[in-house]
Amino acid sequence: MSLSYLKFRAIGRVIFCLLTLCFVVTQKVAYGQVIPIETNNTAMVLTVDKGHLLHVSYFGRKLKDPQGYAQFKAQLHQAGDPSGVANTAYSSSGSRNLFEPAVSVIHADGNTSLALQYVSSSVKRVSEDIIETTVQLKDAVYDFRVALIYRAYQKDNVVEQWAEITQNEQGNVRLNKFASANLYWYGDGFWLKNYHGDWAREMQPEVTKLSHGIKTLDTKLGTRADLFQPPVFMVSTEHAPEEDQGEVMLGSIEWSGNYRVDLELDNQNNLRIIAGMNNFADAYELAPGKVFQTPKFLYTLSQNGTGTASRDLHSWARKYRILEGQGSRLTLLNNWETTGFNFDEQKLKAILEDTKKLGVDLFLLDDGWFGNKYPRNDDHAGLGDWQENKKKLPDGIQAVVKQADKTGVKFGIWIEPEMVNPKSELYEKHPGWVIKQPNRPEYYFRNQLVLDLSNPQVQDFVFGIVDSLFIKNPTLAYIKWDCNAVIYNAYSAHLKNQSALYVEYVRGLYKVLERIRAKYPKVPMMLCSGGGGRVDYAALKYFTEFWPSDNTDPLERVYMQWEYSYFYPAISTANHVTNWGSQPIKYKVDVAMMGKLGFDIPVGKLKPEELSFCQQAVRQYDQLSDVIWHGDQYRLVSPWNHDFASLMYVVPDKNKAVMFSYLVSNRYGAGSELPVKLKGLDSSKYYRVEEVNLYNGAKSRIRVNKENRYSGAFLMQVGFNPVVSAGRSSVVLVLTATD
Ligand code: DGJ
Repeated sequence: MSLSYLKFRAIGRVIFCLLTLCFVVTQKVAYGQVIPIETNNTAMVLTVDKGHLLHVSYFGRKLKDPQGYAQFKAQLHQAGDPSGVANTAYSSSGSRNLFEPAVSVIHADGNTSLALQYVSSSVKRVSEDIIETTVQLKDAVYDFRVALIYRAYQKDNVVEQWAEITQNEQGNVRLNKFASANLYWYGDGFWLKNYHGDWAREMQPEVTKLSHGIKTLDTKLGTRADLFQPPVFMVSTEHAPEEDQGEVMLGSIEWSGNYRVDLELDNQNNLRIIAGMNNFADAYELAPGKVFQTPKFLYTLSQNGTGTASRDLHSWARKYRILEGQGSRLTLLNNWETTGFNFDEQKLKAILEDTKKLGVDLFLLDDGWFGNKYPRNDDHAGLGDWQENKKKLPDGIQAVVKQADKTGVKFGIWIEPEMVNPKSELYEKHPGWVIKQPNRPEYYFRNQLVLDLSNPQVQDFVFGIVDSLFIKNPTLAYIKWDCNAVIYNAYSAHLKNQSALYVEYVRGLYKVLERIRAKYPKVPMMLCSGGGGRVDYAALKYFTEFWPSDNTDPLERVYMQWEYSYFYPAISTANHVTNWGSQPIKYKVDVAMMGKLGFDIPVGKLKPEELSFCQQAVRQYDQLSDVIWHGDQYRLVSPWNHDFASLMYVVPDKNKAVMFSYLVSNRYGAGSELPVKLKGLDSSKYYRVEEVNLYNGAKSRIRVNKENRYSGAFLMQVGFNPVVSAGRSSVVLVLTATD
């Protein structure tokens, strides 16, 4: 074969691939035909009925033979659904559906009925991994349409789904409800694991068997919306969620404001899940010709328990969502827990030296650096006045940045740009930029109010805060973006239609973040909200990491980080070593290593042996971070029902793994009596086991065989004992593949 022929074939193949990738297949589906939304292992199947209604006819494991989807219905002998619409793919109100609707409207002529019918569907191959299916629905009477969009990530078994609502009636249509997703699930009982929380008590899990009726997960806080109830949850069938077996779905709504998830067990014992923005105080006026796009609802479904589900979700999040999810992170020293608001240039200079001494990459200057007429010396004043406080920083941030450069460390800074203290020049100048009811007394959360991000002028102001920091300090390497107030007295002086405020606030926030990322695409930013009050998969598009909680007591963190780990990968979880908790420094560092490591301690007050341990641990972390950030996570021993917790991370080629174990009980004799069965290794490979992060000079008590060589099969079937005990309350083991 000639070279030019080979070239010709290669070019032909490329053209063919491009054509298939961009190919959109549109079809009008005949009655009974199915539209499967599949990933490698999962399927949600839509079916069109005689009356052109679109139903969710199957939700579960992907079948090799798609014929099976159509045969599923015949296997159901349930009570029956007199309305015939209980399982529609986007149920509406005002017609036959008497269950919780996904969409509810008042038409331009005042009519309140909606009955959506199937029009057409199309399938687009976005990439080798992503298939996007769009289904068009339309009301038979009114010119009101909904496009349901399903983006299926094949390898990670993740589906994002959302709706685009349009209308061409004689005037505005009021959307009273506008969900993103409407699932329908046939299963033998459903168990829900959801979370509640508060400041310093984030991610507290609860597991319940769903009973008939509706269980609603929601928030109405507006800004740091997840404080009392994060938007993540899981549902399993047949029994409560288990780590390595059983069917379980992990779900979340990608929205940084008020959300609502209704889980309704219907008369046939099937589960309806309706998820989207919260429609509380939030009816939306949709003008003719305009598109209302809902946020995305995200789920992954596993047939092998939460372990597989969370590894799939992590893999998806690192690849497709978290900013720089496949990149690296900066270790840091923060000053919040050590100085609070009380610092000056001299103190910061010393902390910069400490940053260098500790060996971390960056110094993060926290709250308190700004405000002059109303200095930010506590949390009652100054928020909104983003000029350096002249007493604390007479030569400005620029001098600190210069000093950081000189010291050989990077510099990052704290901001809380969406908020304002009433005691501020900003408030005096722009009272109309603040969310508050005009006729009522102000009511504060942490002595502050929320700026009205629905107003483009406020958006410019917030963008300007970040932009001018970068313009003045081009080497600025990190931003901690805080958000500490909820929205009380919701009212916007800018908006004509008040009920749009909650939606427009979040859209305004995203507009600002888009602008920041367009100009500064990669600068690491921490999503903070007085702790974990705001983390979701829409926000993480703009942030490299989030702050799970102000509670850094490592014992509390073992549980919290464990729960976060079901939904968010370690690379996104910022963990700091602080003075919270009375555990040894080794325990604190080992717990913080299970994610993105940082410190917030007075380094100068550490004993010499504590300092040298921390320095060595930072160096060790640099060696291990690749495994922790990019490896697959396996939860081994749960802290909820054992004396200790164990979990591990394994790189994709299975040549290296890190295992963390933490004692969580102080009862007599508590510890790891038996070997812990490892997971995710290659059973045919051999591994060397080594204990690292030993406290200065301590000898490891793990028992290894003469060659220090264990097969993956042995480690996974028999296990390995990390020898956790009161005297060894945390243990870090590194496993390296060997010949
Ligand atoms: C709340 C954050 O969670 C803390 O880490 C700290 O940055 C304070 N705000 C500063 O006010």
